[in-house]
Amino acid sequence: MPKPEPRPRICDYEGSNYRTEFWEGKGRNYEDLVERIALRRLLPSQGRRLLEVGAGFGRLTSEYDAYDQVVLMDYSFSQLRYAQDQLGTDDRYVYVAADAYHLPFRPGVFDGATIIRVIHHMADVESVLGQVRRSLIPGGVLILEYANKRNLKAMYRFSRGLQSWNPYDLDPVEFVELNFDFHPGYMRLKLEEAGFAMKRSMPVSFFRVGALKDRVPTGFLAGLDGLLQLTGLHYTPSVFTKNIAVGNSPNNINHLSLFVCPSCGEELTRIGNTMMCKACNQRWAIRDGIYDFKAPLED
Ligand SMILES: C[S@@+](CC[C@H](N)C(=O)[O-])C[C@H]1O[C@@H](n2cnc3c(N)ncnc32)[C@H](O)[C@@H]1O
Repeated sequence: MPKPEPRPRICDYEGSNYRTEFWEGKGRNYEDLVERIALRRLLPSQGRRLLEVGAGFGRLTSEYDAYDQVVLMDYSFSQLRYAQDQLGTDDRYVYVAADAYHLPFRPGVFDGATIIRVIHHMADVESVLGQVRRSLIPGGVLILEYANKRNLKAMYRFSRGLQSWNPYDLDPVEFVELNFDFHPGYMRLKLEEAGFAMKRSMPVSFFRVGALKDRVPTGFLAGLDGLLQLTGLHYTPSVFTKNIAVGNSPNNINHLSLFVCPSCGEELTRIGNTMMCKACNQRWAIRDGIYDFKAPLED
């Protein structure tokens, strides 16, 4: 059996109340709306198969109707279970519990991918972007959202000595454990190194200020944000980018099986509700219609 590689730390949402404690009734309709505006601008008008990295409870999955199939991938089984309850078990949706650092997908089975509100939890950005690039066909589209360290609030606080970290230097800042803000220059570089060409970058969430959101109608604020997204003023807390996978790599978009062993990369055979790797003998469960690649089954 191959020796497991050391794993980066993971921000574990298993069993968390992310949906009810962060979104529903929590005054974030504005954030949700402006993210949808940005996504609609950046997503291609049609596609075959989209990988939603860190899909969570499927908050944004309804935006991916242009794709024939959507693979919701998340480390949290409970988030996926909720998504499945909402979206159903139709073949259009595939639910995969897995670690973004060890994706269980055959190279080149996706022509689209999104990473929204996820990379800010990643201690090893290079590795995640590399995994996603490998899963995409050449010419595939990645929409990546990241938390921007060079935002107006951080710039102000730094100038007044209220914050120790410098919003202008390129290195990511981990301001709370497993919560990172990134500089736009850093993210551009990492995307390029992973084999992506950035085609567009848009500042999003100009008005993420409680007092403003309380006083101004959400639709108006979101509409204004939509206009400002076109200005290129990258001083917002969130940035959306559109990137194209470049270079030579496999195209398996028509392959019938999506998965390979996340441990050794070899073929998997389905036996009942188990995916079996003949190369390393590891077995992976399918539980209630959710492929579970978080950890192999014990013998
Ligand atoms: C803030 S939530 C965002 C969910 C969704 N993208 C949204 O915008 O509503 C972050 C998600 O990333 C997932 N996540 C964090 N680390 C992960 C990893 N290493 N592999 C897969 N998913 C991960 C968490 O389980 C969580 O569902």
